[in-house]
Amino acid sequence: MSDLGIIVLAAGLGTRMKSHLPKVLHRLAGKPLISYPLREAIKLQPEKLAVVVGHGAIEVQESCSESGITWVIQDEQLGTGHAVGCARAVFQGFGGDLLILSGDVPLIRSETLEDLLRRHWEKNAALTILTTTLDDPVGYGRILRSENGELAGIVEERDATASQRQIQEVNAGIYVAAPKFLFSALENLTNANQQGEYYLPDVVRVAVKNGQAVATVLVTEPTEILGINTREELAIMEKNLQERINRKWMEMGVTLKDPQTVYIEEDVAIGRDTVIGPNTHLMGKTVIGERCRLDGSAYLTNACLGSGVHLRFCVVLTDCQIADGVIVGPFAHLRPGTALGRNVHIGNFVETKEARIGDGSKANHLTYLGDVTVGRDTNIGAGTITCNYDGFHKYRTVIGDRVQVGSDSTLVAPVTLGDDVYVATATTVRQDVAAGALVFNERREQVREGWTQEKRKKMEAKS
Ligand code: UD1
Ligand code: CA
Repeated sequence: MSDLGIIVLAAGLGTRMKSHLPKVLHRLAGKPLISYPLREAIKLQPEKLAVVVGHGAIEVQESCSESGITWVIQDEQLGTGHAVGCARAVFQGFGGDLLILSGDVPLIRSETLEDLLRRHWEKNAALTILTTTLDDPVGYGRILRSENGELAGIVEERDATASQRQIQEVNAGIYVAAPKFLFSALENLTNANQQGEYYLPDVVRVAVKNGQAVATVLVTEPTEILGINTREELAIMEKNLQERINRKWMEMGVTLKDPQTVYIEEDVAIGRDTVIGPNTHLMGKTVIGERCRLDGSAYLTNACLGSGVHLRFCVVLTDCQIADGVIVGPFAHLRPGTALGRNVHIGNFVETKEARIGDGSKANHLTYLGDVTVGRDTNIGAGTITCNYDGFHKYRTVIGDRVQVGSDSTLVAPVTLGDDVYVATATTVRQDVAAGALVFNERREQVREGWTQEKRKKMEAKS
């Protein structure tokens, strides 16, 4: 909207969080709180978008990758009214309307903001505010109305009388105002209140006193405007959001066996007929194809799974690409840079890192595959280790197609095994092996008949 400016307030410390981290950087469903109102703000395509920062300003700025933000610094946190005042210069001469959002009200939707703007324009108001009614309004500014129901003012919890505290209609902390009215009204604010702050909601009284038109929009779904001020509120909202996300995926055709213990972050995508067991965490930009099975206790971050993938019980996957039909686990750890081709099997106690493994290859037991390229239909025996690190540098191991790596082999990188190589059991491979060759170490086992009995006799004689 070309005639819209938006200010997001995010300068507060969030004292009630008792944290070194600025409040708006606390995470909800894996993303900083501030990212939620920002995302909705950007959907409205404002001409100007200003974010007021103060506490941890640099960290907050660094967390936002969105382009087109004008950063406004509020050096001292003197209140929400003062914070908006800090953005005055950005909107000097701006003809449109100003929408003000709170960085700590994450579930607000752009559709609701559009309703608010529409009402503001219909009523030709100087100021329009978003309200809702809460069963438990503690902590919120209460909406004061005159006898005929007109908006009269907002009183903060700490300044409210006992009877005002009974009021259940609360201020969402989201407003639209004409900039000319707003910035002049801010000049009339005082900090003569319990918190010694310049309260933005006090502009309502200024408007009412000047006889300017004020309007309200009542949100019927109160969770949308809930603010985060404490860790408990954060935890409750996390739960609400998880329920919402889980419900969405179930509606889209995903089975969650125990939704209470499944955590799915906002940006995750899951295909139909995938079945997800208990204690599963799907994080970051994880994408899961159709008909996958995740047995449970899986911890996936930025993992991209094709279709028909089976993650057995207890696996950790980070920054991985997994093609169709792969089986992983139980108890496998796939670290960043792992790329598994179709129908690869990775079994128990296998760790991979920077490992590109071709279609149909298998590493089923007790193996470390780091900095390795494996061809197709190769079998990596139990206990195989790629020795990729000499204490100074990392080196690659390259293994061809249809290779048989015998159990308990160590492949000392850099080393290349051609196609169809056969590595005998317990071989240490230090040199490249040509295609089709057998590689083995020369020392054979020695056998001493009757040795144990003799040893025992000796030991017994000593004691
Ligand atoms: C505010 C409202 C209250 C409303 C509630 C809704 C005021 C005085 N009160 O209360 O009526 O019901 O939101 O959630 O506005 N901030 C700054 N600079 C400051 C102070 C705050 O940028 O100097 C930012 C905070 O980072 C936060 C937002 O403004 O994102 C709201 O501040 P907060 O202290 O959480 O206000 P509440 O007490 O929740
Ligand atoms: Ca708040």
